[in-house]
Amino acid sequence: MKVLYFTGTGNSRFVAERTAKNTNSELIDLKPQIKAGIPQPVDDEDLVFVAPTYAWKLPSVVTEWIEKADLSGAKRAWFIMTCGDSIGNACQYNRELTLKKGLEYMGTGIIVMPENYIAMFDAPVTAEARRIVTKSIPDMDKLIADLKAGEKFPPVRVKLAQFLLTGLINPALGKLFIRGEAFDVEDDCIGCGKCVERCPMNNISLVDGKPEWGNGCIHCMACICYCPQKAIQYGTATKTRERYTFEGIGYGKEK
Ligand SMILES: Cc1cc2nc3c(=O)[nH]c(=O)nc-3n(C[C@H](O)[C@H](O)[C@H](O)COP(=O)(O)O)c2cc1C
Ligand code: SF4
Ligand code: SF4
Repeated sequence: MKVLYFTGTGNSRFVAERTAKNTNSELIDLKPQIKAGIPQPVDDEDLVFVAPTYAWKLPSVVTEWIEKADLSGAKRAWFIMTCGDSIGNACQYNRELTLKKGLEYMGTGIIVMPENYIAMFDAPVTAEARRIVTKSIPDMDKLIADLKAGEKFPPVRVKLAQFLLTGLINPALGKLFIRGEAFDVEDDCIGCGKCVERCPMNNISLVDGKPEWGNGCIHCMACICYCPQKAIQYGTATKTRERYTFEGIGYGKEK
């Protein structure tokens, strides 16, 4: 079994690492491959994809990676989607994706983690974020037990509104909410280039030591949340908002 993951701010990496460790599986970070634009073939019968939910679906870059990658040695695919609240009707799209690849769809598991979409919402404060992660552990363990037994994840109940609206809401994310020109950098920027490194889309370049954003953003929140100077803003909404990263909440390192 191989566990392949994508993450913006660390939640999905935590879930993927825990899943791989407890199923004795190899862990593969998709970000370097996405950044390089070259999907590597995966030679294993059982694949587990772990990723955040973006507007009730898998991130488009993960879908594209799966579409393009040579998975001819694979037979079955499970999905684990981390989310702040709900994955909408993502299961249907995941099923269609696996069928297109000739794989057996083994289900989609949902793990509720702290909200990271700070361009739109407040992230939970540290104590609340830790509480959310602690609450998710038994859910993760159930999914891990299914994986070890080679069983399908239980079906997800989808509300009618989610069933009807997922196909509309998801495209709206790219068209209405993601605007390269809304990113801005403050004078505190030290030109370290960490935002450039973090960006899975190669959408940031340093010009005269300051970042500039292109139009290929997927709003993963990595640049804005990992900037050591908190110097990146998205419009005015993030000026007063706390940044969120999984590492930043110190889960498991509580005194
Ligand atoms: C662009 C974007 C869209 C999101 N859409 C949803 C959503 O539709 N439903 C939800 O419950 N959470 C949504 N979230 C929250 C994330 O899915 C959630 O916090 C996830 O655990 C972040 O994972 P990561 O830290 O691995 O990037 C969204 C976050 C971002 C950045
Ligand atoms: S990570 Fe922050 S401090 Fe570093 S270059 Fe980017 S904006 Fe500047
Ligand atoms: S520009 Fe920032 S938010 Fe957009 S994809 Fe790159 S790292 Fe993520």
